[in-house]
Amino acid sequence: MSTGRLITIEGGEGVGKSTNVDLVRKCLESHGYDVLTTREPGGTPLAEEIRSVLLTPRDEEVDALAETLLIFAARAQHVARVVEPALRRGRWVLCERFTDSTFAYQSGGRGVDAQVVAQLAHLAHPGVRPDLTLYLDAPVATAMPRIVTRALDRFERERQQFFERVRRTYQLRASEHAHIVSIDASRDLQTVQRDIVNAVETFLSANEDA
Ligand code: TMP
Repeated sequence: MSTGRLITIEGGEGVGKSTNVDLVRKCLESHGYDVLTTREPGGTPLAEEIRSVLLTPRDEEVDALAETLLIFAARAQHVARVVEPALRRGRWVLCERFTDSTFAYQSGGRGVDAQVVAQLAHLAHPGVRPDLTLYLDAPVATAMPRIVTRALDRFERERQQFFERVRRTYQLRASEHAHIVSIDASRDLQTVQRDIVNAVETFLSANEDA
């Protein structure tokens, strides 16, 4: 049996990642793939506990490296217990956020050296990297108002400049890495979803030819 593929959905706050996970899953299933959907930080009971530590607003200032290490602790557990075993069994893993988020938020947003993120990625998930990343891109001013109706977590309370740096880092990575397909998520949902399905179909035909 061939190993599965890892597909990730990335983007800033309020760009519609969760809304589109189901669309991608259905698209993959219609091609006969067995799909596991999951998310980061999280995806196992321990990693979900780390997620809640990370997202809880607190008075204590959180050190950027400490935050990065917590994210990679959650990721190491998630990859070892869920992602790798599923891929080995031939399942396709569809994950909302992965290490591109850490480059965007912890390196771009918080200023952690990108080399440090790369080294931690190498330690935490050697050999596991996304085969396809759908990056949903929208101006911060368009996307942020979509989330203000609920209680904001520790990241969502950041200033607009933080999210501008996150977005610029995503855009730069998208221009440098062939596995990242950038989709303009500021348009109406139908148009965005048409582009998402096209990107997945293009990936599948290349994959089936390979
Ligand atoms: P979510 O709200 O998209 O589920 O993600 C939770 C928050 O975690 C989001 O604000 C981004 C943040 N995050 C990072 O800062 N670095 C990471 O590597 C990941 C996966 C998420």
